[in-house]
Amino acid sequence: MAKEDFKITPWKVTGEVNYKKLIRQFGTEKIPDSILSKLKKAHPLLRRGVYFSHREFDVWLKDAESRKKVSILTGRGPSEKMHLGHLVPFLAAKSLQDLYKCNIYIPISEDEKFFVNPALSYKDAKKFADDNILDLIALDFKPRKTFIMKDFSYPPLYNWAAQIAKLITYSEVKAIFGLKPENNIGWSFYPAVQAAHILLPQFLEGPHKTLVPVGIDQDPFIRLTRDIASHSSIKFQKPAAIHAKFIPGLKGSTKMSATDEEETNLIYLSDNEKTVEHKIKKYAFSGGKDTLEEHRKLGGNPEVDISYQYLRMLFEPDDKKLQKIHDDYKSGKLLTSELKEILIKKINSFLKDHQRKRKRAERQIKRFVYSD
Ligand code: TRP
Repeated sequence: MAKEDFKITPWKVTGEVNYKKLIRQFGTEKIPDSILSKLKKAHPLLRRGVYFSHREFDVWLKDAESRKKVSILTGRGPSEKMHLGHLVPFLAAKSLQDLYKCNIYIPISEDEKFFVNPALSYKDAKKFADDNILDLIALDFKPRKTFIMKDFSYPPLYNWAAQIAKLITYSEVKAIFGLKPENNIGWSFYPAVQAAHILLPQFLEGPHKTLVPVGIDQDPFIRLTRDIASHSSIKFQKPAAIHAKFIPGLKGSTKMSATDEEETNLIYLSDNEKTVEHKIKKYAFSGGKDTLEEHRKLGGNPEVDISYQYLRMLFEPDDKKLQKIHDDYKSGKLLTSELKEILIKKINSFLKDHQRKRKRAERQIKRFVYSD
């Protein structure tokens, strides 16, 4: 496949993604410096360009700053146990909740994964939903301001999805999501369900601006929902969105994903210290030179180095420390093995804490998850 031939749907990404081109293709906007300057205290994902594109984020921020009601919504399709890449929208959501003190809604789409993945049984879809919810609760969301709901166990959702489904034609869904004739009809109904998710805060709290942090592959759902939000039968505001780039896999590929890559390309939230150390040492793509001598003389390339990129995106919030790592690596003072050691320590300390909080989350389910 030629480098320019990338293809993105909500369910599959192939090729080398050109993000500039995507902004044009999808008709979104680049997040401008005027917005970035308001996010100096936000998570590195928001400050350092992983979130690169948006729809009406400026409007959402203005409402949030003038203390109008705003909310955040982002969902999780539970198809497997969670890995680091899956955390991206939730870390962004939490950071913005901390800054603007708003409600967060987290719908869990077991139905989506059940429809889309032929090998996933009904029982396993439900099992992964409960499993993933523990990882989400472990992220320290505010208890009285955070609401998790599972599609299979949240009765109001069907009422809303039905109202939305009536506003969408089959050919629209087919065109937007690239559905094929052999796909089951659950799959073609699902976009109405995810649109209902995106409008859920407004169904519950009345019209206001909701921000949806998502991977850029989810933008088709945002577009569809914005198109129908203000229809005379529901009269809601168009949801705002921020779009993230994909977190690269350890080996440097476009997206950290378990669907078509081996385990060795990802770090699971359940990995133990030894596994993390082994995976980083053995697989993390290095921007260093082949020999020690050459590296000392010519230096490494942090832009392509996965260990550096993980520190930048997720694990080193301190700008000064990050800059020093960058400069030392580039000058050859810092070796690949030393850089990897820094990352291994950071990931392991994060995971140790996370796994402890995940255990604790088992007792907190009732505070966060809807049940009737
Ligand atoms: N479809 C998303 C995924 O596969 C998960 C999801 C469900 C979602 N509902 C959502 C994302 C609402 C954003 C908003 O990852």
